[in-house]
Amino acid sequence: MEETSNINELNQGKLPRHVGIIMDGNGRWARKHGKPRIFGHKNGVQSVREVSEAAAQAGIEFLTLYAFSTENWSRPPREVSALMGLLVETIHREMNTLNKNNIRLRAIGELDQLPPRTHKALLEGIEKTRDNNRMDLTLALNYSSRWELTECTRAIAREVQQLKIKPEDISESTISDYLATHFMPDPELLIRTSGEKRLSNFLLWQCAYTEFYFSDKMWPEFKKEDFNLAIKEYQNRERRFGKTSDQIL
Ligand code: IPE
Ligand code: IPE
Ligand code: MG
Repeated sequence: MEETSNINELNQGKLPRHVGIIMDGNGRWARKHGKPRIFGHKNGVQSVREVSEAAAQAGIEFLTLYAFSTENWSRPPREVSALMGLLVETIHREMNTLNKNNIRLRAIGELDQLPPRTHKALLEGIEKTRDNNRMDLTLALNYSSRWELTECTRAIAREVQQLKIKPEDISESTISDYLATHFMPDPELLIRTSGEKRLSNFLLWQCAYTEFYFSDKMWPEFKKEDFNLAIKEYQNRERRFGKTSDQIL
């Protein structure tokens, strides 16, 4: 991996363990260049590669990328199928790089509802990288937070019904344990590109105390330096968790 200079400026002691990204703006970026929306998605893949490398180099343990929401099925069918095809292509192409960089591919979302080819490529990618341990790269695919919370509620209800959990024993950590993200800590930092300032059904429970960073760049324009800049800004934030400033110092 090519190392960039400004990762050296990051404060290693104050690094987020988990960064989430809402990769937004592919379509608008393509339109700006007079191209069809899928051209934007194709160029967005390059940003995924760069940002994943930057995150691994910085020492981030978990990077979660919002790649396709439950709501995205309502896009034109041609765009949906192009996105699903691009996913297959990308997973196949990136497999060696992921292994070389010791990155483990994971996914959250209603995966069995993906087109069979996409589902298969994804499961293969997950399987082939399962022993890597430098960073978890999680794709949120056919994911929405309300879907996840509904599934979580159902799963806990079943446990209660089978007398495995008592209602009075359900705690915040029980809920975290039954979410699709059970294997990772809550994100300390959430980045959204394209100037939009909303969550769009991403990690609602997990973002209770997350720092938000909004970039006006479209996702295909968001590169290593932009990622490192977001980390730097995060490191200058004061996270109070309900306390006063004086208590933090
Ligand atoms: C993000 O870019 C990628 C996905 C949602 C799959 P968009 O496709 O949402 O791009 P804009 O927001 O229309 O510009
Ligand atoms: C959010 O982007 C979903 C992903 C980045 C995959 P959208 O472009 O779908 O979000 P909205 O609909 O503008 O909120
Ligand atoms: Mg969008």
